[in-house]
Amino acid sequence: MTAYPRAHALMKRGAEFLGSEYAILCGAMSWVSERNLVSAISNAGGFGVIACGAMTPELLDAEITATKALTSKPFGVNLITMHPGLFDLIAVCARHSIGLVVLAGGIPPKGSIEALKEAGAKVICIPPTLALAKKYLRSGADALVIEGMEAGGHIGPVSTSVLAQEILPELAADHLIFVAGGIGRGEAIAGYLEMGAAGVQLGTRFACATESIAHPAFKSAFFRGNARDAIASVQVDPRLPVIPVRALKNKGTEEFTAKQLEVAKLLDSGAIEMGEAQLQIEHYWAGALRRAVIDGDVENGSLMAGQSVGMVSKEEPVADIIATLMQECEAALAKR
Ligand SMILES: Cc1cc2nc3c(=O)[nH]c(=O)nc-3n(C[C@H](O)[C@H](O)[C@H](O)COP(=O)(O)O)c2cc1C
Repeated sequence: MTAYPRAHALMKRGAEFLGSEYAILCGAMSWVSERNLVSAISNAGGFGVIACGAMTPELLDAEITATKALTSKPFGVNLITMHPGLFDLIAVCARHSIGLVVLAGGIPPKGSIEALKEAGAKVICIPPTLALAKKYLRSGADALVIEGMEAGGHIGPVSTSVLAQEILPELAADHLIFVAGGIGRGEAIAGYLEMGAAGVQLGTRFACATESIAHPAFKSAFFRGNARDAIASVQVDPRLPVIPVRALKNKGTEEFTAKQLEVAKLLDSGAIEMGEAQLQIEHYWAGALRRAVIDGDVENGSLMAGQSVGMVSKEEPVADIIATLMQECEAALAKR
């Protein structure tokens, strides 16, 4: 027996694929998605994913070991494709028999999907377009997360609702597609499930859970934040591409604009080369997220958050958040 029969029926494929009770992934969030939140999500019936971010293989190894000590349920690992040690990180996942790896941050390099599958892991890719969705599936991805620009963190240009309409009718019948970006309530989950999604991925809604180690000041900023405060960063110089990042506006977001101008000037003067310039911009955010999440510097750090931040109003245990989402989802489906 289940309290959520309609939701369970629509989530069946996704939940079986993940090996979880509910087809709800907590999207990897750098610095936030570590052992405590990941194990709490999996223990509550969702699917937790460790954010490897810029971790070394040794750190990832330790994080996986520590997470295993906190849950016997399956969880995944999110690897950033441009990490210079990607194949060493894949080897760590293989040694730990990680069942599911999410490859994020761009086109997976040659051999990476194959290496993961050889190690027995299922692979999820995050395509920004229908064409890339088809390409990733041809390359061996077992499932996809489609993530719209409402999401927190690095984002593409297209909204979740449009991506869902472009991709789900075409691919969802034969493939496992999880929808992410801007989901704060179960009614939205119901809608995407009815469109054929195998499940959903949420980040912002879980970032301030009781089990999240995010600094109290980071959590307070989320509780205060409204949808309109979670803004995408803007590219200032055409030579210096910026993958937009959605974060709560603060002094740090303003300074990012200044940083781009400063780096552009260094480029103009020949003091640095293009590669170095682009790296400096990427690194700005990597350090800034840690400052906000761990140190609680909500002025200068990056408060990565999706537009659903307006629906995050208090600290709640992961199990309560999941129960609320499932109740809302079931109630919405029951009205149909
Ligand atoms: C603070 C924060 C950090 C994130 N870091 C990552 C990351 O390291 N890798 C990744 O693939 N996605 C990252 N994301 C995106 C989430 O995994 C997830 O897809 C997204 O939050 C879903 O949209 P939502 O925020 O609207 O729920 C991050 C999101 C947030 C809010």
